[in-house]
Amino acid sequence: MPKIIVAIDGYSSCGKSTTAKLVAKQLNYPYIDTGAMYRAVTLYFIQNHISLTNPREIEQALSKVQISFRRHPELGRNDTYLNGLNVEDEIRKMYVSERVSEVSAIAEVRHALVAQQQRMGKTKGIVMDGRDIGTVVFPQAELKIFMTADPLIRAQRRQLELMEKGDIVDLGVVLENLRTRDHIDTNRAESPLRQAEDAIYIDNSFMTLDEQVELVVRLADEQI
Ligand code: C5P
Repeated sequence: MPKIIVAIDGYSSCGKSTTAKLVAKQLNYPYIDTGAMYRAVTLYFIQNHISLTNPREIEQALSKVQISFRRHPELGRNDTYLNGLNVEDEIRKMYVSERVSEVSAIAEVRHALVAQQQRMGKTKGIVMDGRDIGTVVFPQAELKIFMTADPLIRAQRRQLELMEKGDIVDLGVVLENLRTRDHIDTNRAESPLRQAEDAIYIDNSFMTLDEQVELVVRLADEQI
């Protein structure tokens, strides 16, 4: 059976990752959360006090960053590792969310991560989500989805997710963070977030998770 690339892009916290994970499971493909990769680099930059305006320092830091994904033996989830350490919980915290879009706008960071993502999808049969997958990482992807939802609904979903992890954050703070990230992600010079011309637009504000997964799997099946 031929293998395809499923590229899912969209705004922050619109449920891309949750949908992408389940679609990957149904297609029996690996899933790559590229947002987690940008978050891991951001965490490294914060921990090591890397100046975001010094390209040499950034290049040096990037050469020391190794990101990988490993399956959690008990929880069954795909955890993000930074230089051999499990950082899955840390990279989701607000202090990382507050800096990630700034770090993701740096050209050197994008070049390094896009190259790694392209290597991961070389043999196809992959579901990848992010902001530039259908436009920059895999412009030749067989299926491209552009997802969004109403900002307030996205903020409520994100707040719930944080709350489930014991991180209590005011809804206004979450909403403000989403808006700021959307603004930076859409307006940056280097591979800004935009819908690829051949991407299918899905507003999932009033869709259940099952409906979204079913729709994307059906669209993928049409390409296989
Ligand atoms: O997907 P998530 O919200 O975790 O992504 C965190 C941030 O990483 C985004 O707000 C964006 O700034 C950046 N990102 C990116 N390109 C990607 C994936 C994420 O710039 N492909």
